[in-house]
Amino acid sequence: MENRSQWGTRLGFLLAAMGSAIGLGNIWRFPATAFENGGGAFFLPYLFALLTAGIPLLILEYTIGHKFRGSAPRSYGKISKGMEWIGWWQVAISFIISTYYPVIIAWAIMYAYFSFGQQWGADPTGFFVGDYLQLGDPGTFGGLVPSVFLPLIAVWAIALFFLGRGVKKGIEVANKIFIPTLAIIFLIIVIRAVTLDGALTGLDAFFKPDWGAITSGKVWVAAYGQIFFSLSIAFAIMITYASYLPKKSDITNNAFITGFANSSFELLAGIGVFAALGFMAVQSGQDISDVVAGGVGLAFMVFPEIISQMPAPGFFGFLFFASLVLAGLSSLISISETYIAGLQEKFNISRGKAVTFGGGIAAILSLAFATKDGLNLLDTVDHFINNYGVALAGLFEVVAIAWFAKGLKDFQNHANSISDIRLGIWWRFCLGIITPVVLGYMMLQNLKTEVT
Ligand code: PFF
Ligand code: NA
Repeated sequence: MENRSQWGTRLGFLLAAMGSAIGLGNIWRFPATAFENGGGAFFLPYLFALLTAGIPLLILEYTIGHKFRGSAPRSYGKISKGMEWIGWWQVAISFIISTYYPVIIAWAIMYAYFSFGQQWGADPTGFFVGDYLQLGDPGTFGGLVPSVFLPLIAVWAIALFFLGRGVKKGIEVANKIFIPTLAIIFLIIVIRAVTLDGALTGLDAFFKPDWGAITSGKVWVAAYGQIFFSLSIAFAIMITYASYLPKKSDITNNAFITGFANSSFELLAGIGVFAALGFMAVQSGQDISDVVAGGVGLAFMVFPEIISQMPAPGFFGFLFFASLVLAGLSSLISISETYIAGLQEKFNISRGKAVTFGGGIAAILSLAFATKDGLNLLDTVDHFINNYGVALAGLFEVVAIAWFAKGLKDFQNHANSISDIRLGIWWRFCLGIITPVVLGYMMLQNLKTEVT
């Protein structure tokens, strides 16, 4: 394993880790989640979650990957033979996500194009589900929707192209192009948004603290959930990416940088989205709380409407959807790398074969989401992954390592031997006690809402 692939530069690794972390979760999940869970007051549980679970887990995952220099299954297997399955569980979650995530990127590609001339017309919602997705329409060839299918093929071609070229020449290069471009585009969009009429109304609504919210368990669950999803934790990704780090790497510092970069991007997205929502509310004489949305609805129903009302709609529409494409592609590359690395090591095959086989199967399965029923299927799968898959994977991870294997001390020593910032008992307490308790509580809450 001495000739294991490596990142070319520290910046290359950091950009790849940020590329994975910064995704649709920052742009369309965070703003609505914060708004619904206390607005300005949400930042308190959010910061708490970042510092007690997000960054500590990121440090753990970087350490695991760096110490064992293997994909997630192999690294867990080296901690203890009986733990390899945890790695496969996390890889499986990433694999499933990689069957529907690219479909959303495909939509964004088409919408970047639709932005010119605002082809969604006066009724963007009707256009999205009816004209574009052809929801419920019998459709042609097997229910596949050509306007989703074709860009989907393009998404896979791009992702598998970079993945096939390897860690340094492929993944690193892709992120060195995508992430700086994304940052520039995003700054342009946010500056435009905050200078629109009504922007302050939106920002006021976003930052107005509802302090009562922080006494609610639901708000804390939302904060931890956002942090886990947003930092790509327990998806096998960060372990895989860290396994390509050179021997001398400041792991702890890298984790803090990744964590804060992701949160900065999230905050920036919140500002941009709410400034734009404020503009729309003022334009249409609606209340801000009536126009707030998250997820698919925000990007493909609300934003087209906002874009149509803006000056230079073609330009800003294109930039907005291009930012979704770039953020999405870098995340898709990271989730796919988990099973590519896993397959490569498990079956001792070349990267090329693992990309063809793993990526090929994921690509074929993703076609199911490019059909006239795609959106419903996507909602269902996403719901289960988000509510159970991720929380369970994180729970298995911390409980197995902190409570059942040799404990966290080895990892602490490993990280400390190469990092500037010292890990101490606070780190073991966050991972051994706080994180398992929170994740266990989160699971119970999610199950409870399921049955009621
Ligand atoms: N961390 C990414 C985000 O915040 O959008 C999302 C993500 C990437 C989730 C990769 C899952 C994943 F496997
Ligand atoms: Na994120």
